Amino acid sequence: MTGQEQDPQLAQAQREHWQHTYSAHPGMYGEQPSDPADHAADVFRTAGARDVLELGAGHGRDALYFARSGFTVQATDFSAVGLGQLTHAARTQGLGDRVATVTHDVREPLPLADSSVDAVFAHMLLCMALSTAEIHALVGEVRRVLRPGGTFVYTVRHTGDAHYGTGTAHGDDIFENGGFAVHFFDRDLVNALADGWILNDVHAFEEGDLPRRLWRITQTLPR
Ligand SMILES: C[S@@+](CC[C@H](N)C(=O)[O-])C[C@H]1O[C@@H](n2cnc3c(N)ncnc32)[C@H](O)[C@@H]1O
Repeated sequence: MTGQEQDPQLAQAQREHWQHTYSAHPGMYGEQPSDPADHAADVFRTAGARDVLELGAGHGRDALYFARSGFTVQATDFSAVGLGQLTHAARTQGLGDRVATVTHDVREPLPLADSSVDAVFAHMLLCMALSTAEIHALVGEVRRVLRPGGTFVYTVRHTGDAHYGTGTAHGDDIFENGGFAVHFFDRDLVNALADGWILNDVHAFEEGDLPRRLWRITQTLPR
C-alpha cells in the first residue's frame, strides 16, 4: 500500500480490537494523566484556552484531567466502550458537566464547526492504523476546527521505537504487534504536518515498559 490507499478491513479490525481491549481491560491506562497531558494543560492555560478537543481519548485518563484542571472537554474515540468508561468516571467524579463524548472515527471529518475550539490534544492517536493521506486529512480537520492562534499537542510513536519494522507489515510504515497496528512516524512526516503552522516543539519521551518511544509535538495556528 502507498500513503494514498486505505485498507478498510484493517481499520474495521482495529476498531473491533480496541472495543474488545477496553471491554477486557477497563481503565487499562490507569487514572493518572499522561505526561503529555500534564504538559499540554500548562501550554493550553498559558495560551488562554478554555475548551479542549481530545481525539482518541480512550477511557479518559487525560480528558478527566483536563476537566479537573478547569477546561471544558469534548472527547472523541471510535471505541464506544472506552468512551462509556470515560462518561461513567466523569459522572462519578462530579465532572459530568465539563466532559462531552462523541463516538467518532478520525478518518471521517470532525463533527465540529470551523474555528470552534481553543486547543486540540491527541495522545497516541495519529500513530494508529491511519494511512499518511488519512493523517494529513485529519490534521487539516484539526486546523479547520481550531480558532486562529489555537494550539495542537499530539504524540506519536516514531521510527526509533523497538516495534518499528517488527510484526505484521501493512505498508506505509504501519506494523502490527499483538493485535495493535501502529503507524511509526519519521521526522519528515512531522515536518510535513506542520506546514502552514508554527512548529513550537518536538520533544522525545518514553512511556510504559516496552518502552514506547514517542515524540510530543506542539504546533500553533497563526493568528
Ligand atoms: C494508544 S490508545 C491511547 C488512548 C488515550 N489517548 C490514552 O493515552 O489514554 C489509542 C486510542 O485511539 C483510538 N483510535 C484508534 N484508531 C482510531 C480512529 N480511526 N478513530 C478514532 N479513534 C481511534 C483507540 O480506540 C484508542 O482509544
